[in-house]
Amino acid sequence: MKLFVFFFFIGLFSIWAKAEEVVAIDTDNSSLIYTINHSNQLIFCYYGQKIDDKEAFSLIESYNKVDTNRDLSYEAYPTYGLGFSNEPALTIIHESGALITELEVSEIRTISKDSLINHIVILLKDRVYNFEIELHLEAYKKEDVINQWIVAHNYESKAIRIGNIYSSFLHFYADKYYLMHFTGSWANEMNLVEEELRSGKKVIESKKGVRTTQTENPSFILSLNHSAEENEGECYGGALAWSGNYRIIFEKDEWNHLNVLSGVNPFLSEYTLKTGEQLETPKMIFSYSSRGLGQLSRNFHNWGRKYALVDGFSPRPIVLNSWEGTYFDFNEKKLTRMMNNAAKIGVEMFVLDDGWFGNKYPRNSDSAGLGDWETNEKKLPHGIDYLIDYAHSKGLKFGIWIEPEMVNPKSVLAEKHPEWIVQSPGREKITLRNQLLLDLTNPEVQDFIYNTIDSLLTVNAGISYLKWDANRHVEQVGSTYLPNDQQMHFWVDYTKGLYNIYRKIRSKYPELIMQVCASGGGRIDFGSLKYHQEFWTSDNTDPLKRLFIQYGVNLIYPPVATASHVSASPNHQTGRITPLKFRFDVAMTGRLGMELQPDHLEEQEVEFAKSAIKTYKKYIRPLITEGDLYRIVSPYDENKWVALMYVSKDKSQAILFAFSTGVHARDVYPILKLNGLNPTRKYKIEEINRINTSSFWGNEKVFSGEFLINNGMEIRISRLFDSAVFKLTEVTK
Ligand code: GLA
Repeated sequence: MKLFVFFFFIGLFSIWAKAEEVVAIDTDNSSLIYTINHSNQLIFCYYGQKIDDKEAFSLIESYNKVDTNRDLSYEAYPTYGLGFSNEPALTIIHESGALITELEVSEIRTISKDSLINHIVILLKDRVYNFEIELHLEAYKKEDVINQWIVAHNYESKAIRIGNIYSSFLHFYADKYYLMHFTGSWANEMNLVEEELRSGKKVIESKKGVRTTQTENPSFILSLNHSAEENEGECYGGALAWSGNYRIIFEKDEWNHLNVLSGVNPFLSEYTLKTGEQLETPKMIFSYSSRGLGQLSRNFHNWGRKYALVDGFSPRPIVLNSWEGTYFDFNEKKLTRMMNNAAKIGVEMFVLDDGWFGNKYPRNSDSAGLGDWETNEKKLPHGIDYLIDYAHSKGLKFGIWIEPEMVNPKSVLAEKHPEWIVQSPGREKITLRNQLLLDLTNPEVQDFIYNTIDSLLTVNAGISYLKWDANRHVEQVGSTYLPNDQQMHFWVDYTKGLYNIYRKIRSKYPELIMQVCASGGGRIDFGSLKYHQEFWTSDNTDPLKRLFIQYGVNLIYPPVATASHVSASPNHQTGRITPLKFRFDVAMTGRLGMELQPDHLEEQEVEFAKSAIKTYKKYIRPLITEGDLYRIVSPYDENKWVALMYVSKDKSQAILFAFSTGVHARDVYPILKLNGLNPTRKYKIEEINRINTSSFWGNEKVFSGEFLINNGMEIRISRLFDSAVFKLTEVTK
């Protein structure tokens, strides 16, 4: 009965018509399809498994609006004013006070089309005002990734104000929707949550301005009808390439359709576009997988390494970072001793963390010195140069920590330039970790930061690695630089200011290795990764916690960029005691490094570290850099085992990691089914990084891929923090 009423209703007020034109963009395995209807509107039709028969979409009847009632056609970029009662992607306030925007297709342009990338732009114009947007779609064919973004142009004779301008809109229709997203806090980032979406809106966002990924990452995975599985089923992933405020809205509407908007957060962010000006949104990166989460992650990792990360497919050096080893308490002797030890165990890069700067206000704790980027003469009387030369003499490269967006009130910089600090007129400035934020919307501040880094890198020419930290977020927003009527530009202009600096540094120092860090995992997004080789995943270095954090991070972001350090036991953040082998085995699943005082290692621990690092360099690093990740057992499964495997692209090599994260009944072991190998080939299995007898009865033997995939390997790890690593090598004879 309901159905009848519904069609009757529509029949009365509307005209159904065939689409005029199909606009489609494909990757090797996915299609995103729009149609243009008789009213020249761009209609969202489909995103999913590749469909070659595009013609069929032109037969879909779409509703021509002659009345304001809702229909079942969803605009590809919904605006406010065309009967779309859901959250619109775009809202504009015209000088006349008009609030309505109606977009129609004016042109479709192909920007590039080759065997790797297709890039099209659909121009959409307002029917009444001289306002236009470019809707960009860029398909990365081999990686099954599509980027979407918007460029808005104001050709009116007066300024317009933009309320919302999301980067993308996606639309789904299924019985049920399951959303995975990543949530957390400092030292507890990227916890995976999966929830079924109910009616109304689920919002993922940040309003922090800086460290925007610490509590919630701007990425998600969506599965239709069932919750996501590792090796099968359709799922979709999205990640916004933006390091500022973001908002992703999942709106399950009254017809049970799901609308997904992703982009810059409109929170206090109205943006004025003067005549002739344009505004480009960040890119939203999507991927589709018909083979579960595993394939989805591999799509993101392949795309990330090829197109988003700096030197995505190059091996990363093994780092000893001074932070947890010394904190602020060091001098030349202590550092050079650390370097001696680092070199002995095979580390390749020494990174001097916080505490090396400030003289009037020495940086001996986190309460002073930030902003005064000259070497502390008391701690380091011979300068950074001396340390660099020393590192080089030991065969180590040298890196340094900097937190250039910040200032302590106790600093020469704060005394000299109080106007550079983010502040709200008349209010007391609230510190966080005793520090305040510099106003990156101000080009003078951008120049100061660029010049600080430029002179650090030119005066000390041997610095080959920069750890860029940011340890607070925005509160009491306000800029002495921006005009009063543009204070709301702060959030967008801050991030653009940051990107300007990154860009300048990158173009002058293309070889420099840069790590993005913001109190640990506060800036893990594809916007900042474009300028960096790696990210500091979390200030939590507890290996058990890291198995969870890195599982979450690597669902989207590439393992090669995932800095993962062996630290002391008991762990400084959690107090947990773990064996050195377990700490190494976990850290070796990402970009291996160390973060401890090597002097505190016992002799047999030094020997173990030496051999673990050698093993990592020879067998593990190449696969983490260039191979594919296959997750075997998730830490989120209740069974308290974790396993994952890296497989070379040609499937001739693999490294398997297995961990026991709980206490198990006697003689109960995990059986790991090694999906990811080639079933028709044979592999020799060798346990590496071993201390005792092998934990696999078939060690050194040859097995078929078929056996390992279907029967699996039973591994004898069952005590708390047992772990094992295996090398699998194809045997051709
Ligand atoms: C942040 C970083 C740490 C360390 C400290 C130094 O917390 O995430 O790795 O660099 O700052 O103050």
